[in-house]
Order: sequence, then C-alpha cells, then structure tokens
Amino acid sequence: MANSKLLLSDMVSQESGCIPLSYVRPINERPNLLEILEFSDVPIPLIDLHGLDIHEHSLVVKAIGQACQSDGFFQVKNHGIPERLVSEMLRVSKEYFKLPECERMKAYSDDPNKAIRLSTSFNVNTEKVGCWRDYLRLHCYPLEDFIHQWPSNPPSFQDIVGEYCKEVRGLVLRLLGAISESLGLEKDNIEKALGKQAQHMAINYYPPCPQPDLTFGLPCHKDPNAITVLLQDSVPGLQVLRNGRWVLVNPLPNTLIINIGDQIQVLSNGRYKSVLHRAIVNKELERISVPTFYCPSYDAVIKPAKELVDEDHPSITRTFTYADYYHMFWTLGLNSHTCLDLFSPTL
Ligand code: OGA
Ligand code: NI
Repeated sequence: MANSKLLLSDMVSQESGCIPLSYVRPINERPNLLEILEFSDVPIPLIDLHGLDIHEHSLVVKAIGQACQSDGFFQVKNHGIPERLVSEMLRVSKEYFKLPECERMKAYSDDPNKAIRLSTSFNVNTEKVGCWRDYLRLHCYPLEDFIHQWPSNPPSFQDIVGEYCKEVRGLVLRLLGAISESLGLEKDNIEKALGKQAQHMAINYYPPCPQPDLTFGLPCHKDPNAITVLLQDSVPGLQVLRNGRWVLVNPLPNTLIINIGDQIQVLSNGRYKSVLHRAIVNKELERISVPTFYCPSYDAVIKPAKELVDEDHPSITRTFTYADYYHMFWTLGLNSHTCLDLFSPTL
C-alpha cells in the first residue's frame, strides 16, 4: 500500500477520487450495482418474535424453521433488546471510529488469534485484494473474561457494549431453542452441541468509498460460526444471495438480521443452509454494522444431530472440532466460498 496509514478510516480523508489498486477487484468479481438495485424489492422473511414465548409459539417456530431452510437469513422484530440500547450501541460504535488515530491504534493487531483487536480489511497477512472496511473484534462470552480488555474509550464503551452483548446472548439462546424445536429436536440440543460456547462481535466501519463499483466492504462469504445476529445502521450495504440473485437488505428500524452459519448447517445435517452474503460500500456515506457471531467453543466436537442422520440422510461432514474449522476459515479467507467442503465425510 503506497500509504503509511494502516486503517482505511485514517486514509480516506487523504483520498483523491480513486481507490488504491490494492482494493480493486478483478472485473468478474466486482459488484454489479445496477443489477442489485433492480432486485432489492424481494425481501428476506421478517419474523415477529412477540409470539415466541406465548400462545403463538409453534407458529413462530415454524416460520423460523421455514426461513432457515429456504433463505438461511431472516429479520426479527419485537426481539426484546431495548431500542435505547440498540441506538446507544450504534452511537458508541461510531464514536469509537471517530477517536483520534493514536487512541484507536492502541488496539491495532493483524493477528486473527487475538481476542480483542482493531484491524482492517479481513486478513491482511493472507489476502490478495483488500476489503474496504476497518473493524474492531471483541470476544464477549464469558463477558467477565474479556470486558476489561476492551477499549475504555469512549468512556461508556464497556458498559454499553457489555449490556448489548448480554441481551444478544439472551436472544441467541431463544433462537437456538426455536431452531432446535423446528428440527424436531429437544429445545436445548443445539445449545448443548456448542459446548461451553463462545460469542464474538465485530464492529465494522465501512468508510465512504470513491469507487464503490470496484470493490467490496466484505466480499462474498458464509459465516463459519453457528448463528449471526447483525445490527446495522440506516445505510444499506448487506446483500444476500437469494435464488441466484443478490438482494440488498434494506435496513428496517428496530429490526435485527439473523443468519445461519456453517455450524448449524452441519448440526442440522444440511437441512438448514449457511448462505452466501457480502457487503457493498457507498460513495457518500459511511456505514456501521455490528455482527455478533455465536460459536461453539474451540474444543466442541461438531457433527450432525444423531436424530437427523439415517441411511437416507448420511452425515454431510466428518466429525471435527470447531478450533480446526475456525483456523481453516481464517487461513482460506473470504473468497473461497465454502470452508465446509473441506470437511466432507470422504476427506
Ligand atoms: C460479517 C458480515 C455484513 C455487513 O461481518 O460476516 O457478513 O453488513 N457483515 O457488515
Ligand atoms: Ni458474514
């Protein structure tokens, strides 16, 4: 990179009208922004969680199962996380990325193994083309093991983000219960399969990009974890592959986006799909997104639920530990569409 700045957020203010060559994707791998807008009116399912804990339980479980099977993605409203907390979470995230460079750089690292780190792109050590994003990654469960290592500036950061993480974990456990039930399994089946569990969060900052048609905030990928809860601000950017077309997910107020990751695809023995998605960037506007990646613990041994395996439905993978999977994901990078293929039963 012909620039001494490590982070995009510090580089863009010095930018001319062109992005550095190191961010330009090959012609056949660029976003086709015109095509996308055309199809943006086919939304992913929106599920009201209000009924999950009461009389409409089985209807909501069914809707969730249907969405996991057909889309791998859905949106939820009435999810139970207070509106105030959600807007504070977005506010403090934005404030963090506005801190002076020297303050933010305290957390900088390009080592994917670090539990708390500020970085840029995806994996600067292995990738050929850069991603137009900076991100802060935080491990967040068990909270007391990590919260004190998080940035302490802005001063309210730890309190707000900590509270948000606890709320998201509660939501995830409710969703995992519903997903287990929708597969005909005991309610705690998936939760147990994740072992001691882990929760990681990314705060993604996508700066405005002078040439958004040449690059991605994040290229096409599937999430390697079990389930992801995505909070995004009001700037659209997330695209989901739906029936062979890229669909832009329009941000709705008070709505979170849920997607199935590779581990639920495995646990469900392929009934539920981890689906390709990506993030585009915007010429004028910056964008913040906050995915929570809920994961098995590294030592969890992952294989399909035994109730879902029989002669007609052989296991879609070999047995593996999440540590092996996660390491492979970070090494392969985001363009290799499916890490899961490397864990097929015959390999
Ligand atoms: C991710 C991701 C989408 C977004 O971080 O894995 O898919 O809109 N993010 O930022
Ligand atoms: Ni993702």
